Order: sequence, then structure tokens, then C-alpha cells
Amino acid sequence: MKKTILTGIKPTGQIHLGNYIGAIKPALELAEIQDYKPAYFVADYHGLTKVHNAEEFRHLSYGIAATWLALGLDPDKVIFYRQSDVPEIFELNWIFSCFASKGLMNRAHAYKAIVDSNKNSQKDLDFGVNMGLFNYPILMAADILMFKTEVVPVGKDQVQHVEIARDIAESFNNNYGETFLLPEYKIQEDTAVLPGLDGRKMSKSYNNTIPLFEEPNKLQKLINKIKTDSLPPEAPKDPDTSVLFMLYKEFASPTEVEKMKEQYLNGIGWGEAKKELFKVMDRFIKQPREKYNELMASPETLDGILKNGAEKARSISVPFLKEIKRKIGFYA
Ligand code: ADP
Ligand code: TRP
Repeated sequence: MKKTILTGIKPTGQIHLGNYIGAIKPALELAEIQDYKPAYFVADYHGLTKVHNAEEFRHLSYGIAATWLALGLDPDKVIFYRQSDVPEIFELNWIFSCFASKGLMNRAHAYKAIVDSNKNSQKDLDFGVNMGLFNYPILMAADILMFKTEVVPVGKDQVQHVEIARDIAESFNNNYGETFLLPEYKIQEDTAVLPGLDGRKMSKSYNNTIPLFEEPNKLQKLINKIKTDSLPPEAPKDPDTSVLFMLYKEFASPTEVEKMKEQYLNGIGWGEAKKELFKVMDRFIKQPREKYNELMASPETLDGILKNGAEKARSISVPFLKEIKRKIGFYA
């Protein structure tokens, strides 16, 4: 039996290099492993906790779908869907909210971080918190447990959410008998956190990103903005501590990487290193960027693919939800 491996990305911003290296690239590699049955989705209702402009929301949701497909996700091999097209998830979300204690949600990092920041700025503790945000981990538990997921590839910040899903599964199982599988998270240990233009973690929350599908001119300009130290061009540079090299490795061939490493050790000017980085990135991104633009110009194509995926997802979620409801005592 193949193991279900599942992950979602919420449409709250333009996909950037950090998302690609830290989440999408590894997930696409995992999808190639024969033991896995991958289910990847657009976590649009999670995105709604943040984005309240319809035009923007639509654009960002399609953007996530187009990104996966442009980078090579094969919808015949991966169950690829939009969370909002699978209504059973939301029914399960309610069921779980009757099993998750409020205290558990109070302790969730994302909520706690907002409360702490409100405390510091002497605002009402729950300022800016909608109930969707507060219940976020419950919906995520429904996403995961609905498909009997065994492996959840995520960034470190999401580990607690997977643990909450395990807690919820256990409390349900204890009450009604074995129903849900307990999921494991899988963090990409070897992909370090990619720093953004200002040196902090690249994140759409910090406005320091390089969008993955940036047009060539802008891409070169953004690469030029990546912070470097003030060593003179001829001084040897340490490839292991250079963001430019970290990025170069992701897009260049192994031979090119070896060569570049030597150039670093022998001394390469940062301007030159940036030019070389642009070359390999632009070469890699060219085709996916075209595919992305094509897909974005054809939302009906994206809708078709996602609807198809939702049907596959629902062939699992509809019967499973029935079984769950029977256990709870809805019908005989
Ligand atoms: P952001 O920080 O821009 O809001 P998200 O929290 O939506 O990004 O992250 C989506 C996925 O991309 C997660 O799996 C996260 O771990 C990964 N990710 C985001 N930023 C980075 C980064 N700078 N380096 C590596 N992975 C990242
Ligand atoms: N919370 C995840 C993030 O912000 C997105 C997400 C929603 C998710 N549901 C999920 C990830 C289920 C893995 C499994 O990145």
C-alpha cells in the first residue's frame, strides 16, 4: 500500500524563491518516489484568514495552482486540488472543532505570536484575530486526516500544526475507535532557510522576496540587491556562507557548481557572481515562466485541472466522511 503524502500552500502572496526551494522543489521530488501517493492542494480557505480582497484572492489562488503545474507537477500522478472544492473537509473541520480544546488553540504559535505582539503594543490581546485564524490548526488537521495522510512535508513553522492534528486524531480515536492515521511531519533538514534581500528570512511578510517568476530585467535587478559583504573582488570567498552560492547550487548543473566553488575560493567579484547566478536562474525559469503565464491567462484550464483533482479527492473524502459520521452517531 502506498503512503499518502500531503501538503498545501495557502494563497497569501506571490510565490518566491524561498517557497520554491523550501517547499515546492522538495515536494515535487517526493512525488517521484514510488512508495508515495501524493496529494497537493491550494489551501485557499486558509488564505482567506488573511486576504480579503476578491480580485487579489482569485489571482493568488490561481497563481499557486499555476506555479505547481508550471514547475512540472503532473496532475495524472498527483491528486491536485483546491481545498474549497472538497466540502467534506469543512464538515470534518466542524467535527474536529468539537474535539479540539480551546486551550490547544490558545497555545498555537501563530495565534500566540499575534497576542504577544498586541501585548507589546498595548492593544487588545485579540486585536486583528479572526476566528478563521484562531481555528486555523483545526482546518489543517481536517486537511491532513481526511486523506489518511502518513507524511506531511512542511517547513519548521508548521510542525506544531501537524502535532495538533495528531492530538485531534488521538482524541477522536480514543473515543470512537481507530479511525484516523497519525501523521508524521517531514521537514526538509538540508534546505536551510533562504534569506531575503535584507538578510532576514525571505518571506512575503517582510517584503524582501524575489518572486520566482519575475521577468528577466527585474530578476537581474533583484539579484543585484542581494546583500553581500565588502570583500574586494580578488579576495577568496566562502561558498558555504554565501546566499548567492546557495541559490546558484539550486539552479546550476553539478559541474557548474564545482566550477563556481573554485571561483569563489580563488576570488570572484560579487558583481560577477550575481551575473552568473542570473544566467543559471533565468535559464531554469524561462520555460516554467512561460508555462505559468500561459496558465494564468487561461483560468478555465486551471479550473478544469483542479476540478478533476477535486473529484479524485472526493472519491476518498465522501465515503470516509460517511464512515466518520456513522461512528459519531449520525445514522445507523
Ligand atoms: P512566507 O514566509 O513567505 O509567508 P509561507 O509561510 O506561506 O511563506 O511558506 C510556504 C512554504 O514555503 C512553507 O513550507 C515554508 O516553510 C516555505 N518557506 C517560506 N519561506 C522560506 C524560506 N525563506 N526558506 C525556505 N523555505 C521557505
Ligand atoms: N499551514 C500551511 C502553511 O502555512 C498550509 C497548509 C494548510 C498545509 N493545510 C495544510 C500544509 C495541510 C500541510 C498540510 O504553509
